[in-house]
Amino acid sequence: MAFKKVCSLDDLWEGEMESFEVDGQEVLLIWPEGGELKSFQGSCPHQDIPLVEGKFDGKVLICRAHLWQFDACSGKSINPGDCALAQYPVKIEGDDVFVDADGIQPLFAHS
Ligand code: FES
Repeated sequence: MAFKKVCSLDDLWEGEMESFEVDGQEVLLIWPEGGELKSFQGSCPHQDIPLVEGKFDGKVLICRAHLWQFDACSGKSINPGDCALAQYPVKIEGDDVFVDADGIQPLFAHS
């Protein structure tokens, strides 16, 4: 385990998302409304488009390129229903947000 600080809680509000680089990997921090702060792979499993360029309505993340949809709480895809985002452990200490991307590779799906 190698948690790295990525931001502080002031940088991200509930209902928002932002991307950061951790250990050379782009990771997405996303905070679903009514849920807990999550971290997923930063690129779409379809064709590697940055997910932060997509839309997030507080519950569902939609990739801008071909509109694949992901549940922001679980990272599982909604449409199509057969893929998922790699998830990284998140730790909050005081106002600091840490992510551990060690050894977790982004997932890719059929195209
Ligand atoms: S690259 Fe994201 S849906 Fe195609």
